[in-house]
Amino acid sequence: MPGASLSMTPPESAAAPAADSGLRDGFGRAIVDLRISVTDRCNYRCVYCRSGESASAAAGELSWPEWRRLTAIFHALGIRKLRLTGGEPLLRPGLEDFIASIAGLGWDDLALTTNGDKLAGRAEGLRRAGLRRVTISLDSVEPEKFARITRVPAGFARVQNGIAAAQAAGLRPVKINAVLLRGYNDDEIEAFADFARRHAVVVRFIEFMPLEEGRLWTPEIVVPLREILARLERRHPLRELSHGTSETACRYGFADGAAGEIGIIAPVSRPFCGHCSRIRMTADGQLRTCLFSLREWDLRARMRAGASDSELRDEILRAVAHKEERHHIGEPGFQRPARTMVHIGG
Ligand code: GTP
Ligand code: 5AD
Ligand code: SF4
Repeated sequence: MPGASLSMTPPESAAAPAADSGLRDGFGRAIVDLRISVTDRCNYRCVYCRSGESASAAAGELSWPEWRRLTAIFHALGIRKLRLTGGEPLLRPGLEDFIASIAGLGWDDLALTTNGDKLAGRAEGLRRAGLRRVTISLDSVEPEKFARITRVPAGFARVQNGIAAAQAAGLRPVKINAVLLRGYNDDEIEAFADFARRHAVVVRFIEFMPLEEGRLWTPEIVVPLREILARLERRHPLRELSHGTSETACRYGFADGAAGEIGIIAPVSRPFCGHCSRIRMTADGQLRTCLFSLREWDLRARMRAGASDSELRDEILRAVAHKEERHHIGEPGFQRPARTMVHIGG
């Protein structure tokens, strides 16, 4: 069995399993899903992510050739789902060329997470470069509330245009991510369901996690899955759809057969760590094996010190062998990671 030689808490010097056996962590989970944050700059300042003041500046971003090299190494190790994220990935010039350069490696999935602000003029080019689909953050379907949450006064119309452009370009399915915050947008659950039906998109409600700069998180601000479901059911009866065990979202269609889909991502009230297949790379080249990792693996330093592909591969295998079992949100002694979501990559 791949990685069977790895103990639950493998020593740093644990022998690396063969590269062709696929990545498996110390708990036996297959790791097939990589998210890379191509920049930690962002032109939005969403309250659940950023503080109002601080600018998120790019510091020490990996170059595109460095990303190409690492992406190929991860692919050779068995990664088959790649998501490009940030910060806001569309702020980084050269994104389309990068996608074109790695698209041919052979992915089961190649997706992008974006705030949608600059998507309208880019969707067609992204599709031509080889991108398959996009996930767009939209935390309100009302322009004024959208402005309050994102702190961007006129972004709403641009994001709507971005959604339309993604659909027209065939970047399907278009998924909409809405982080629900009590007192900000929790009165819009029904309106979001209407939006999913009207625009034939997948709307995913996300429970807020303590990964923000502004220290807004409390258990009370989280809108839990059961409440979301109960409210949705009263508006439009749902039917549960099957979903892969490592998928983050519980999926629902509309019982009346209308277009659109609902997803609920409930990392707080119904954690999915047991089936986690994900690892992440930060914009400055640190490998993180969990959103809540307290430790990072510095691939940038190794690369820039002249590490060979096989040395980088061994470091990735070591990191994956140390992947955390789960997060500890809400438990006594829970420690936030030093870096916040905009730096880790959503
Ligand atoms: P699909 O492949 O489209 O299903 O994407 P996904 O479900 O991985 O979702 P996406 O990358 O859009 O992430 C949506 C949200 O889910 C993120 O913004 C996080 O809030 C949450 N999320 C994603 N991955 C993880 C994870 O590994 N752990 C936790 N706790 N939350 C996650
Ligand atoms: N909790 C949950 N999801 C978050 N995102 C950003 N910050 C948080 C958080 N603290 C999600 C948003 C966005 C993606 C980049 O990350 O949904 O779509
Ligand atoms: Fe930017 Fe995304 Fe964070 Fe919002 S959630 S501030 S769009 S990185």
